[in-house]
Amino acid sequence: MKYIKKKLIIDKVKIEDIARKFNTPTYCYSYAQLKKNISDFKKNFKSFSPLICFAIKSNTNLNLIREIQKFGLGADVVSMGELMMALKAGINPKKIVFSGVGKTSKEISYAIDKKILLINAESKSEINEIDRIAKIKKKKVQIGIRLNPNTDAKTLSQISTGKKENKFGVNEKEFLKLISYCQNSKNINLECLSVHIGSQILDHKPYEKMLNVVDKIIVKTKHKFKFIDIGGGMGISYEKGSKKLNYRKYNIAIKKFLKRHSTKIIFEPGRSIVGDVGYLISKVIYIKENEKKNFIILDAAMNDLMRPALYGANHKTLPSIKRSRISKKTYEFVGPICESTDKFTSLKKFQKLYEKDIVVMCDVGAYGMSLSSNYNLRPKPVELLIKGSKIRVIKKRQKHSDLM
Ligand code: LLP
Repeated sequence: MKYIKKKLIIDKVKIEDIARKFNTPTYCYSYAQLKKNISDFKKNFKSFSPLICFAIKSNTNLNLIREIQKFGLGADVVSMGELMMALKAGINPKKIVFSGVGKTSKEISYAIDKKILLINAESKSEINEIDRIAKIKKKKVQIGIRLNPNTDAKTLSQISTGKKENKFGVNEKEFLKLISYCQNSKNINLECLSVHIGSQILDHKPYEKMLNVVDKIIVKTKHKFKFIDIGGGMGISYEKGSKKLNYRKYNIAIKKFLKRHSTKIIFEPGRSIVGDVGYLISKVIYIKENEKKNFIILDAAMNDLMRPALYGANHKTLPSIKRSRISKKTYEFVGPICESTDKFTSLKKFQKLYEKDIVVMCDVGAYGMSLSSNYNLRPKPVELLIKGSKIRVIKKRQKHSDLM
């Protein structure tokens, strides 16, 4: 994304043209950025060729997942819907792992029928249930057990998952007990230890700590794990000049771990693959200046992009046309929804905006559209894939009639 002759451009397409042709609010994704992210991710860890399972929850667009599939990635799914979507996108079941603390009997049964690589179980009860269903089906099911390593990911508390107060995984004591349960079961094949300590992690040290915990536990179990699934969580920089995850150091830590254990590493990245691929294009409906505050009222709202309202996240916001006039006032960028948390950002010294101007929110490819809702009965935006100068509709805009 860059300005050419003061006009904001994604790949070779002007934002203005997208807004005119497809209306707003509109999500669009850059194919070039997607390709780069996947290739960078592979390069970062190429010495041990991990299995990269894209975390479907970060972006559930069928056509985007199809593109991701073409680069050879597998999928990390957390519901039957996501599993169905991954399969529909052509992802090989032998590259699919199923995570989540509350898989229902129906979901487990479906996953077994589809012969996916691993069901990563998160409790004793779940393992019992997998065992029971596998027995009825007369199948031997490959599973993983998710360990809660009690490691602080040093990220937002809402997206932290690896501490003992979190609902995810089992603690070390329980993990050790479950190993012998699995070893004694005829219908379960324990192949994997999985962990995922959180999301938007920008410091490699929590990963190092997590690997140390895993290392110690493996030694204690004496079990041969074919796979170690170390989850996702690699953060991206949402703000200019913000900290970046040191992939080189993370890679070194994994290589050190692999010297002690011969196993296949699985990753479950979401944000690092699609985060900076996506943009949300929106139009200024009204500008409202009150006694205390000034508002830019956009046609996008918290139902389209929940991250600011949910986590206080800030997405870089840019005008589609650069002008030299700068406003001295501070403006709050808000949506039309009847909630005071329907607010995206607050900007000072932004360029002077006018009604009907177009603005773009950046880095919304992960947990943007996938977290969206129809709150206030607002139809969901259209999704576009931009490849060079070509624009492809990869999901149609919802119509009001779809919601009635
Ligand atoms: N694996 C598991 C088991 C997960 O729970 C998650 C994310 C991932 C992988 C992918 O994590 P990533 O590489 O994308 O960080 N809605 C929040 C993020 C929630 C993450 C949930 N789990 C946000 O918008 O920041």
